Amino acid sequence: MNPFLQVAVEAALEAGATLREEFDRPKKILYKGEVDLVTESDHRSEKTIVARLRSHFPDHAIVAEEGSSGAAAGARYCWHIDPLDGTTNFAHGYPCFAVSMALADAGQPVVGVVFNPVSQELFTAVRGEGAYLNGKRISVSPVEKLAHSLVATGFPTHRRKRSANINYYWEFTLRSHGVRRDGSAALDLASVACGRFDGFWEFGLNSWDTAAGVLLIEEAGGRVTGLSGEPYQLGGPDILTSNGRIHEEMRQLAAQVAENAARS
Ligand code: IPD
Ligand code: CA
Ligand code: CA
Repeated sequence: MNPFLQVAVEAALEAGATLREEFDRPKKILYKGEVDLVTESDHRSEKTIVARLRSHFPDHAIVAEEGSSGAAAGARYCWHIDPLDGTTNFAHGYPCFAVSMALADAGQPVVGVVFNPVSQELFTAVRGEGAYLNGKRISVSPVEKLAHSLVATGFPTHRRKRSANINYYWEFTLRSHGVRRDGSAALDLASVACGRFDGFWEFGLNSWDTAAGVLLIEEAGGRVTGLSGEPYQLGGPDILTSNGRIHEEMRQLAAQVAENAARS
């Protein structure tokens, strides 16, 4: 196994096992913003992952949601870590959350892991070597039309009154089999990679939410851009992902929604 992937998998499994145990216990919820929750489990998971990465790769940079860091920024290799993606679900006892971690080489994800400790689903990818679910190769769906698709999105927890996404949600709902909003961007992206969803978009995600999922989708044969079709950069303002086949239709619909919003 690729040595970076090996360490990432070990870290995600260890952190995920703790999250799974703590999921069944009462949780202390703290607030980072009005509805931006964080639990002690977020911090514990991050500590576990970061300790392992620092011991194996002391010269790698680390960008982790709860604030841990590694070697100085500017290092060639940087880990993007969400120690608990789906904190609101976790805090409410809704079993939809994951550990997400990716290694980027000069800004491009080259190794990605998303682990759902409840379903015990481990998604992995290495650039140029395909995407896998529990060791079995996965690929995006064959769906050709938005009208026949199941897509997904999410809503931000900060500055949520400023989000225009409800307009996109409405239009995509009317033109597809449905839009799911499951509360874990990492799992949404992994679901596009394995063909459960045919597309996904969201605004305001961070590099730790998307880095692993982006690589999974690309390695599963899908497409990742910004919402206007431009190349996606980690931490960019918006993201559009799909099986590739319905990408242009999604992009056009998004453009139409933006145009309508600008006019009104
Ligand atoms: C959140 C989830 C959610 C998305 C939010 C994210 P967190 O991450 O990925 O699906 O809609 O934008 O902030 O806070 O649970 O790690
Ligand atoms: Ca997240
Ligand atoms: Ca998180």
